[in-house]
Amino acid sequence: AVPYQVNQAGELTIGGVTATSLAQKYQTPLYVYDVNSIRNQMRAFKAVFINRHMAYAVSYASKAFATVAMYEVAAQEDIHLDVVSGGEIQTALAANFPMANVSFNGNNKSAEELEMAIDNGLGTIILDNFYEINLLHDLLAERNQKQNVLLRITPGVEAHTHDYISTGQTDSKFGFDVNSGQAQQALAQTLADPYLNVLGVSAHIGSQIFDVTGFQMAAAKLVDLVHEWGFEPQVINTGGGFGIRYTQEDQPLPATEFVEAIIDTITEKTTEYGMTMPTIWIEPGRAIVGPAGYNLYTIGSRKDVPGIRSYLSVDGGMGDNIRPALYEAKYEAILANNPSAPSEQVVRVAGKYCESGDVLVWEQALPQTKPGDVLAVLATGAYGYSMASNYNRNPRPAVVFVEDGKEQLVVERETYTDMLRLDKHYQ
Ligand code: LLP
Repeated sequence: AVPYQVNQAGELTIGGVTATSLAQKYQTPLYVYDVNSIRNQMRAFKAVFINRHMAYAVSYASKAFATVAMYEVAAQEDIHLDVVSGGEIQTALAANFPMANVSFNGNNKSAEELEMAIDNGLGTIILDNFYEINLLHDLLAERNQKQNVLLRITPGVEAHTHDYISTGQTDSKFGFDVNSGQAQQALAQTLADPYLNVLGVSAHIGSQIFDVTGFQMAAAKLVDLVHEWGFEPQVINTGGGFGIRYTQEDQPLPATEFVEAIIDTITEKTTEYGMTMPTIWIEPGRAIVGPAGYNLYTIGSRKDVPGIRSYLSVDGGMGDNIRPALYEAKYEAILANNPSAPSEQVVRVAGKYCESGDVLVWEQALPQTKPGDVLAVLATGAYGYSMASNYNRNPRPAVVFVEDGKEQLVVERETYTDMLRLDKHYQ
């Protein structure tokens, strides 16, 4: 399995607290985060730049896990924040996040969302299309206000990852395309706009990427583009997408090595062109929170299909982690009270949702299990809670942060009343 901690009795611990005791106290399903792991990953990203004396911003792509407590941890670590909706802006406001350190991505930001951004002093808006340039221009003109922006460029790089999560290729809904000249046109228009202060360019080529080549190609393309235009950017943002280890088979580079490669490419290219070295921004989401998260479930029913497989069902599923159903994503699960016991069965870990695709782990070797045992799925910290739903009218689980042996509830478990709050009778 991917790395995890155990106590002297050999039970799974998270941030120094026994997983089964968390399950007992807060019930299951439960999202648990090891806050030290989050902090360490944030610090590791920053250290790459600091060691090389580079101007930088590590901006947490908060779509991976967006809660007030998470934004507070980012602020404590002096990490910037990337948001993609009015809801994430509202979460940043609730967390008292320094809004100057927030950037706003997305391919169809509404007028209301853009107003929220500019009226709350959000640092940077990452412009994605011509419609948005004009919309933002009008909103700023009404207020006679200037706004820092980056242009989201589609560099025409295909990252080798699942089709649904590669966004840098030309056939994409995101960004200004380089190959067809849109990017050049967008630069011309925004540089001439008195209300837009163009800091530079931005790209994001995909997610869960294991190979540095795509990042190097994209970074080089961005420098080529601005050079061709005779524009010296203050900022080059190469996005996120650094792959993490979900199962033993995954062997990604350490996230920091991607960053080294990006810095090297931008340094070489700007030196070649005699340009001033820009501030480099990165936007990791998954790499910051993914490895820090654990989903705890209670085992219930079991069905053996003779000669085919066994289904072991737990009390959560696709409502709290849709990634296996949506992307065929793989995870590993361990028995929380005895993770290293020899395996005696191979099962498919299924959820409780009324759908055959509701799977949490496709194939998992486990020791003997019985109803009531706590199962922990590992490396669930990214795109789990943030993509959770109320499908089948299941309330969303609570979120607990653990650090140095102390736990704290940071999102309450949803109640049936919460779920019904917006429903109205039809008369
Ligand atoms: N920056 C931009 C502009 C992005 O679109 C994304 C992710 C990121 C940064 C962060 O990427 P990360 O470092 O987390 O890979 N729901 C999918 C992932 C979708 C990612 C979308 N954009 C999943 O569960 O795998």
